[in-house]
Amino acid sequence: MKMEKIIMAAKAKNNVIGKDNKLVWHLPADLKFFKQTTKGHTLIMGRKTFESLANPLPHRDSWVISRNENYHAEGITTFHSLESAIEAGEQKGLDTVFILGGGEIYRQSMELADKLIITEVHESFEGDTVFPKIDSEIWQEASRKEHQADERNKYDFAFVTYIRKKN
Ligand SMILES: NC(=O)c1ccc[n+]([C@@H]2O[C@H](COP(=O)([O-])OP(=O)(O)OC[C@H]3O[C@@H](n4cnc5c(N)ncnc54)[C@H](OP(=O)(O)O)[C@@H]3O)[C@@H](O)[C@H]2O)c1
Repeated sequence: MKMEKIIMAAKAKNNVIGKDNKLVWHLPADLKFFKQTTKGHTLIMGRKTFESLANPLPHRDSWVISRNENYHAEGITTFHSLESAIEAGEQKGLDTVFILGGGEIYRQSMELADKLIITEVHESFEGDTVFPKIDSEIWQEASRKEHQADERNKYDFAFVTYIRKKN
């Protein structure tokens, strides 16, 4: 069976996803959704995103992409291109991989992803990293679940799934 390649991201109304190698909002409901969705799976991420996390995420395999041949850190597997990580997932017989960013990795993976799971935060933020344009010629919105801000989650947001349109 073909391995499904899923991009997962949280983006602001103005497409911002990060600033100074950090996330720019705190939405516990989104973190919970992220953990539930990715638990037990393999995650592919850029070296900068990996370094923005305190540690590799538990109960998941972290595959980190770096051009540096000597890059390594405890608890991760390093790859030197996005394609080689995808190939390794296919060879391992994984049914799914989650591509977790950041900006540079999202830009390169939009053309090879099958599905996007996007948390759309209904607020604009200042930042230095953005999510690429989701082209409606290519991507079909398949589901959307809106959430209102509450005492723990300061902003309105939606969990949205896009699937690649068939040619
Ligand atoms: N809101 C969200 O959902 C979300 C998710 C993830 C990240 N973020 C944010 O995004 C920001 C980080 O994104 P970013 O664009 O700066 O960095 P990034 O995409 O996380 O990592 C970039 C690094 O990945 C490696 N890389 C990229 N393409 C490669 C390729 N084709 N072959 C080999 N290595 C490659 C390089 O590492 P080397 O320099 O080691 O060669 C490059 O410097 C942070 O602010 C983070 O908080 C947000």
